[in-house]
Amino acid sequence: MALGERDKITGQMTTGHEWNGIKELNTPVPRIVYFFLIAMGGFAILWTVLMPSWPGINGYFRGLLGADQHAAVIQSVEQAQVERASWTSRIDSEDFAAIQADEELMTIVRQTGAALFGDNCAACHGTNAQGGPGFPNLAAAPIMWGDDPEIVAETIRVGINGTSPETRFAQMLAFGRDQMLERADIDAVVAYVETLSQPDLVATADPAMLATGAELFAANCAACHGENAQGMIETGSPNLTDEHWIYGGDHSSIRSSVYNGRIGTMPSWEGRLTPTDIKLLTLYVLDLRASQ
Ligand code: HEC
Ligand code: HEC
Repeated sequence: MALGERDKITGQMTTGHEWNGIKELNTPVPRIVYFFLIAMGGFAILWTVLMPSWPGINGYFRGLLGADQHAAVIQSVEQAQVERASWTSRIDSEDFAAIQADEELMTIVRQTGAALFGDNCAACHGTNAQGGPGFPNLAAAPIMWGDDPEIVAETIRVGINGTSPETRFAQMLAFGRDQMLERADIDAVVAYVETLSQPDLVATADPAMLATGAELFAANCAACHGENAQGMIETGSPNLTDEHWIYGGDHSSIRSSVYNGRIGTMPSWEGRLTPTDIKLLTLYVLDLRASQ
């Protein structure tokens, strides 16, 4: 190994190492880098002294500044509860109409309602309450059990075919599977029901079949769905004449509803949500409907 010599091109000293004619320049690490390393190390040590840091046998070193994230969280939660209490007491005590007329409260309803709906209801009813196969559209479809706020709140509280002893009960009978109607009669009543929401189909359907279907409907279905098939609050049955369907308005979905029956389950929320939350959700859902 040759001693360090000066490199002719750069004028720098070399380290004296040489590999196949390539020599290494002796360029030291800049001082500023050492300075930063020392400054950072010093800061790190200082920080462990000021802030909670070293673990010990009975806990940990709490730091000279006394910073405590736990206390900070508890404080901010308490703060939030105080702020929340200022409006939850108004939501609890005021009636639906008064809250609906109060823009300030409705802003809170829209914010907290959206979060509550996202956490508890969106899995079935969709993020925007638009529903999906098997789950009704709460934002636009006519409300089966009635859209009075007290009634909607009650539906959410007790559920439909839910586990609450007071739950609402609604069932579409299985006319085919339980042999309540012959196959031909099912075909006729399904053809008739299809024309209720799609009047264009009347032109191509067999008039005799539609007439039979209408008679069968009056005899077997009207008691629950109403004479005009627009649904009945008393039985919680859906309107069959509009574009909103829970299970589908195409031929095979309607046929399947009539043949196999349907029994959708809306959970009972009492016990899982507070009365305030149920009231907030009622207001939130009705507000979505109003803004459609
Ligand atoms: C497990 C799925 C599921 C969840 C979660 C759910 N729902 Fe429902 N909900 C349903 C089904 C299914 C129906 C329709 C039942 C029927 O067809 O008879 C329904 C019906 C309703 C109705 C009655 C609609 C009408 O036309 O009368 C309201 C109101 C409602 N849900 C609100 C809510 C709210 C608010 C939440 C959240 C707290 C929620 N639902 C969570 C499945 C669910
Ligand atoms: C005992 C009451 C009752 C009778 C009788 C009844 N229905 Fe229903 N029907 C319901 C209820 C309740 C639902 C909603 C079921 C659900 O959501 O789980 C329903 C749902 C339906 C649906 C599905 C609607 C959708 O939105 O997807 C169709 C179609 C239907 N009924 C047609 C008929 C026809 C046709 C008859 C007569 C042959 C009939 N129903 C008789 C109570 C009844």
